[in-house]
Amino acid sequence: MNREDFNILSKNIIYLDNGATSLKPRCIANSVSEYYNNYSANAHRGDYNLSLEVDNKYEGTRTLVKDFINARKNKEIIFTSGATDSLNKIIFGYFRNYLKEDDEVLITKSEHASNVLPWFELKDEINIKVNYIPLSNLEVTLDNVKNSITDKTKVISIAHITNVVGDIRPIKEIIKYAHSKNILVIIDGAQSVAHTKIDVQDLDIDFLAFSAHKMLGPTGVGVLYGKEELLNNIKPIIFGGGMNASFQFDGTRVYNELPSLLEAGTPNIAGVIGLGEAIKYLNNIGMDNIAKYEKDLKKYAVNKLKEVKDIIIYNENSESGIITFNIKDIFAQDLAIYLNKYNICVRAGNHCAKILKDEIGIKNTCRVSLYFYNTKEEIDYLVNVLNNKNIKDEII
Ligand code: ALA
Repeated sequence: MNREDFNILSKNIIYLDNGATSLKPRCIANSVSEYYNNYSANAHRGDYNLSLEVDNKYEGTRTLVKDFINARKNKEIIFTSGATDSLNKIIFGYFRNYLKEDDEVLITKSEHASNVLPWFELKDEINIKVNYIPLSNLEVTLDNVKNSITDKTKVISIAHITNVVGDIRPIKEIIKYAHSKNILVIIDGAQSVAHTKIDVQDLDIDFLAFSAHKMLGPTGVGVLYGKEELLNNIKPIIFGGGMNASFQFDGTRVYNELPSLLEAGTPNIAGVIGLGEAIKYLNNIGMDNIAKYEKDLKKYAVNKLKEVKDIIIYNENSESGIITFNIKDIFAQDLAIYLNKYNICVRAGNHCAKILKDEIGIKNTCRVSLYFYNTKEEIDYLVNVLNNKNIKDEII
C-alpha cells in the first residue's frame, strides 16, 4: 500500500474524506493524460489505428470491470457518468416499465439521495409506493426486511454500505430471501465496491451501481451492472449517436444491442481508461487486503476517538471505514472547519442522506471515511487535534 503513489499525500494533508471521493494514484492520472496527449480519438467510430487503440482500451476496461465484480458477460457492464446516473438509468429505464400502480418499493431512511429521489419521482409519475425498511440500531436486519415485505413489494433498493452509518448490510441473505418472493434487488455499491470484494454472481445481485471516483478512478464515470436477462428489458432513457444501428426519415429505427444501447453519445473515454487503471491498481493490492486493513484501522480509530472529551460516535459498531461523530455543543461544520486549520479533511453536514436525521435525531454530523492509504499515525494526529484543550475557543 504505497502512499508515495499519491501526490496529495506528500503535501502534509490528512485526507479522511474517502466516502466523498478517493485520492488518485499518479498512474491513473497519467493514464488519463496519456489518452489526451497520445491517442485521443473517439471510440467505436473510426476506421483507423488510433481509433482502434481507443476501442481496445475502452472495451478492455469493460472486461476488467466484468472480472472485478465477476459478472458473466461484458454486455452486463454499462458505463455511465457515476452511481447516480446508473441508479437513474435502472429506475427510469427498467422499473418505470416494470412496476404498476400500487406496487411497493422498499428502501431505508439511510439511503443516499440518489437512491431516494428517483423513487420519489417515479412514485409521482406512476403511483407506486415507497416504503422504508425499519432500522435496528441504525442497521438493516434480515428480519426487518422480511417484516417489511408485502405481496405488493416488487423491488428492494438499498446501499451495500451506507455513507453515514457505514453498516455493511447482509445483502446475500436479503437477496436470497427477496428472490424467494420474486422481488428484485438493486444494490447501491457506491461505498462498497472500492472497499470490499463484490461478486455479483455469488451475491446474485440483479442491478448494481457504482462510481469510478471513489475507487481511485476519475470523476464522471460509473458502472451500471445488470443481469443480462434484466438488461434485455431495460429501455434507454438517452437517445442519440452510438446507440442506434439505423433510422429513417419516417421514424423507423433500429437500436444497437447491449451495451452500446445504453451508452448514447461520445462516452467519457479518458475516464473509462482511468477506471481500468484503477481496477488494475486495486487488484494488485487485493480487495481482501483492503477490507481487512480498513476494518482494523476503523477499530483502532474508534478506540482512539473514544478518548476524546465530549465525543459522540454514532456508529462505533459498524464494520466499514466510516466513523460518524459530533463533539458535544460544537456544530459539525464548525468542527470540520477547525480540523481544516490542521490540514485534516473530513466531511460535515447531512452527507446527502437527508432523511437519516429522522433515525439518529440529529441533522449534521462529522464523518471520517478511511481508505487503505490512511494510517494509525494520521488517526493519532486527528485525535490530538480533537483533544486540544482550546478547541472551543479556536472555533469561536
Ligand atoms: N456520496 C458522497 C459522500 O457520501 C459524495 O460523501
